[in-house]
Amino acid sequence: ETAVPTIFGLPLKYVSLVTLAVQNAALSIVMHQSRVSTPPSLSYSPASAVLLNEILKGSISLVIALWRISRTDERRPFSSPVSSPVRQLLRDIFSPDCWKLSIPALLYVVQNSLQFVAISNLPVATFQVTYQMKILTTAAFSVLLLRRRLSPTKWVALLFLAIGVAIVQLQSSSPSPSHPHQDTAVGSAHDSAPYYMHVMSPLKGFGAVTAACFTSGLAGVYFEMVLKNSKADLWVRNVQLSLFSLPPAILPVLYARDSVTSHGLLHNFGAWAWATVAIQVFGGLVTAIVIKYSDNILKGFATSLSIVLSFLASVLLFHFRITPSFVVGASTVLAATWMYNQPAGREPAIINQVVSN
Ligand code: C5P
Repeated sequence: ETAVPTIFGLPLKYVSLVTLAVQNAALSIVMHQSRVSTPPSLSYSPASAVLLNEILKGSISLVIALWRISRTDERRPFSSPVSSPVRQLLRDIFSPDCWKLSIPALLYVVQNSLQFVAISNLPVATFQVTYQMKILTTAAFSVLLLRRRLSPTKWVALLFLAIGVAIVQLQSSSPSPSHPHQDTAVGSAHDSAPYYMHVMSPLKGFGAVTAACFTSGLAGVYFEMVLKNSKADLWVRNVQLSLFSLPPAILPVLYARDSVTSHGLLHNFGAWAWATVAIQVFGGLVTAIVIKYSDNILKGFATSLSIVLSFLASVLLFHFRITPSFVVGASTVLAATWMYNQPAGREPAIINQVVSN
């Protein structure tokens, strides 16, 4: 693609980044709610959710890929009758290099499962802040695998980003006794206050979130490498990714066969569970667009902005108080984002001076 793709006249690159930020904020809240709002005996199976996510994402990508192929077919003046869109699509999907997607597919299934372990064992805010470590793992893998060179300004921006996120979170980890009810909303260390006495194990949660940061960085960068080193269509790559995700996603479901055969795959799937899966499917599709039109490191900035967004949402919805630490942290995140996005050569001179001295 040479032209910059747009949606409703706006650059797709920025629309997708902002959409991803909103999606991320929504997911942490809804997913956590879906785990703690029912007694454990009535909770749904995360393995089913992970599998369902892949099936839906793969199906949507398949439809989009087919639509794109038929569209280019119509435009071609002498389209050959032997290549029907479906046949063309199958040829693209089962291309000789499709195996490359097996690596990110496996990593993402592991990551999506770990995310459930993490969010069931940690308060939303703690989960969000520790999950931001993926910004640093992603930067590291981008440098290692994509040989991406980051200018000193960009490294400083990454550091500021991490600091800003931590400062924003300081607010959430200090209890605010004057607003006991807001705990059920976003980002309080006490929002885990189990409505049904779920036993949380922070150690397990931290272990899961740390592992998820590594799979996130590696899988994202690997997917970017495959995507940018070939001409294959993004949506075909997504279908390949989902196909390779099926075996590892089905395995845990089969493992829990007893409960699936006696209750069905969708046992205990209530509104929160469906909302979780829907937001995840949407997020997967937007993530793919972000990786294609910007890159994994910018994706990290979008998700940090999501933390700022979820706090703003809780101010509006749950009368959260804005504290000085929130203002300082959020400003740092925004400044870091701006700094990272400065085109080479137009970076703030002062930073280059400080860094190079
Ligand atoms: O947290 P992170 O950005 O690494 O999460 C990426 C999410 O997007 C995962 O849930 C993964 O399954 C999904 N994804 C996708 N299709 C892609 C890339 C990522 O569904 N092409």
